[in-house]
Amino acid sequence: EKGGFDHFMLKEIFEQPTVMKDVMRGRVRLDDGLVRLGGIEDYLEQIKGARRIVICACGTSWHAGLIGEYLIEEFARISVEVDYASEFRYRNPILDKNDVVIVISQSGETADTLAALRLAKEKGATVIGICNVVGSTIARETHCGMYTHAGPEIGVASTKAFTAQVIVLYLLALALSKGRTLDDHEIELYLRELSAVPDKVGKILDLNDQILAIARSYKDSKNCLYLGRGFNFPVALEGALKLKEISYIHAEGYPAAEMKHGPIALIDEDMPVVFIANCDATYTKILSNIEEVRSRKGKVIAIANEGDEDIGVLADHVLYIPSAAGPVTPLLNVIPLQILSYHIATLRNCNVDRPRNLAKSVTVE
Ligand code: F6R
Repeated sequence: EKGGFDHFMLKEIFEQPTVMKDVMRGRVRLDDGLVRLGGIEDYLEQIKGARRIVICACGTSWHAGLIGEYLIEEFARISVEVDYASEFRYRNPILDKNDVVIVISQSGETADTLAALRLAKEKGATVIGICNVVGSTIARETHCGMYTHAGPEIGVASTKAFTAQVIVLYLLALALSKGRTLDDHEIELYLRELSAVPDKVGKILDLNDQILAIARSYKDSKNCLYLGRGFNFPVALEGALKLKEISYIHAEGYPAAEMKHGPIALIDEDMPVVFIANCDATYTKILSNIEEVRSRKGKVIAIANEGDEDIGVLADHVLYIPSAAGPVTPLLNVIPLQILSYHIATLRNCNVDRPRNLAKSVTVE
């Protein structure tokens, strides 16, 4: 049942290239740059005209939502707000029929997300669901929605469901841009970038042994910091969440530029810092953040792009991954972070598939 893997989590991490193709199947037509999202077709024009979009979710699904915010604002230029479902429902949110609410949930049963969905409907908003479990309560109660089609996720730590959520949000952002903010040629280019992702993820999975070696060096750490920017700031949050939930090491994710406003005080020789350092517009800024960590004796693990010569000099460890257009990079950068958490947790003899105190579906408030 684990397909030859020691744990469901590892199996699900390694399934991602296939799952990603499944998520795109029937939804992406490369030759003419068409995005088909059957589940929301009837609502598409209404969503395009929304005053704003509010995304509500919890945990890893909330991180996917943050990436969704960056993607929808970048591509479709519609203003997006992302909220924890648990906060949203208790703060009397300003919402009416001109707003669209997107709820994201792997299980489709998360109590807080369900309550947020019901409140949004009560206030007259159109509610779209992005769920993995077919026929789940959230999927049934939304006005319309899209399934992630990631297949059953058994490991409590969400991996393939997360990348599937990001792909659905990416496709939604493109569908909302068509005829408005992006021309057909641009949409086609972004679809091509997305279609190239599964094979690139396959290459990243080949780094498994290298990541295991890094995990051996840091398995006894007490703390760990994850830094990224832009589309990859939520990936830093997700990397930290993965580590803390399965290895019980305290970890924090931050936007890299925020380091100087506080977290830098934590840096010493016992603090590993994971940098998402792709070659993009903020690359040189990230390099100076890395230098700041180095000069305080922090240990640097960098996720960088193949061919990047500079970073090897600065970082203690570099994981080289294929380069890609900015908007798809979260789908690549998150993979080594999932694998790193997995190895650190198993080296610490933690039960990765069933971490303490956590449940796969949180149906209590
Ligand atoms: C993280 C994790 C949790 C869930 C959260 C939301 O790996 O598993 O943080 O992401 O409980 O669950 P869903 O997506 O089922 O609503």
